[in-house]
Amino acid sequence: MTSAPPERIYLDHAATTPLDPRVLEAMMPYLTTAWGNPSSLYAEAQDARRGLDSARATIAGILGCRPNDLIFTAGGSESDNLALRGAAWAARRAGRGDHIITSAIEHHAVLHTTERLEQAGYRVTYLGVDGEGFIDISELQDAVGDDTILVSVMYVNNEAGTVEPLAEAVRAVKEKNRKTVFHTDAVQAAGILDLDVDSLGVDLLSLAAHKFYGPKGVGALYVRPRTPLFPQQLGGAQEKNRRAGTENVAGVFGMAASLQLAYDEFDSRTAHYRDLRDRLLFGVPERVPNVHVTGPQPSSAHPEALEGRAANNASFCFEYIEGEPILIALDLAGVACSSGSACTTGSLEPSHVLTAMGVPEDLARGSMRLTVGASNTRDQIEYFLETLPGIVSRLRSLSPTWPERTRS
Ligand SMILES: Cc1ncc(COP(=O)(O)O)c(C=O)c1O
Repeated sequence: MTSAPPERIYLDHAATTPLDPRVLEAMMPYLTTAWGNPSSLYAEAQDARRGLDSARATIAGILGCRPNDLIFTAGGSESDNLALRGAAWAARRAGRGDHIITSAIEHHAVLHTTERLEQAGYRVTYLGVDGEGFIDISELQDAVGDDTILVSVMYVNNEAGTVEPLAEAVRAVKEKNRKTVFHTDAVQAAGILDLDVDSLGVDLLSLAAHKFYGPKGVGALYVRPRTPLFPQQLGGAQEKNRRAGTENVAGVFGMAASLQLAYDEFDSRTAHYRDLRDRLLFGVPERVPNVHVTGPQPSSAHPEALEGRAANNASFCFEYIEGEPILIALDLAGVACSSGSACTTGSLEPSHVLTAMGVPEDLARGSMRLTVGASNTRDQIEYFLETLPGIVSRLRSLSPTWPERTRS
């Protein structure tokens, strides 16, 4: 018997994070008194305009760019769509080519967009990844040609936590074709890794505030000066004609406040995440048989190897059972976490990320992703480690494929 949890234990911070109360406080004036339309000229509007400008300057400071290099959007998906469609259509109009390169493990905000672009006549190369989710830099460089207009490679994978060698990838691409635009989906990297756009060398970078304790429904796209980009949302002249629509002033202000906090507290937060993540990465396989860590592998002999893994991510595949019943049982036991699988039309499709990493389909169906956050404690992780083995063995005892069941 394991003890009941004193509270709910939230281990799904890659899905979303709770709003930091300090961020809510910073947003409040823009929801109450400074509610004017920032595009208007009168006094009420100017408070909102000042809020928007100061948020832009704050985010630009963290990315090391100019405030005008940022376009505010409604989140990560919109930023990815704007980056890919905007760069693809601008390059086609300039007659520069129609070839796009991305990786097989991108978020669907990227992959569904490249599929659409393929239907519109673009040619897309999908790079494979190795068993830990890393792209191969020479395969990427070989794929770049004179007609390659765009490369999109994510910074951190949302399921396996793999940190792609981004700066190296950008260098390899630009060496071959300096005109190729490089986009990165950095939605899972904010607050976890350095976002300096010049050190990374990227031309376009997507962010979503709700992944770093900011509000939902707001994001940003960084655009390097002189990067050709066609707007995708048309209407008013907001965001210097690059994204129409009255700005979500409170949301944008909250995004800036939460990003600032994430980098002010960067060292203590990431050290805390790493401590809890490592306890999970080593603790789960110690307690549960027939389980595999997915993504970059931990090795007690080489802890530095885990630099290639996001500080907050521990992901696994369990043999002989599916991920979903584990998640449901954990939910009943007070723990919220996720599986890598997308549930489509009632059947559990194995994750495209895990299958691209070479995980066999059956095993990929038994996936579980744990992403830790600021409010998690060591005690919560110990409760989780105490609770999980009983759940797994109970589910396995019901599984027709569990060898110990057929033996008895
Ligand atoms: C890597 C990545 N890209 C894009 C998105 C989409 O972000 P949003 O839900 O803010 O549109 C997510 C969300 O989970 C993500 O993890």
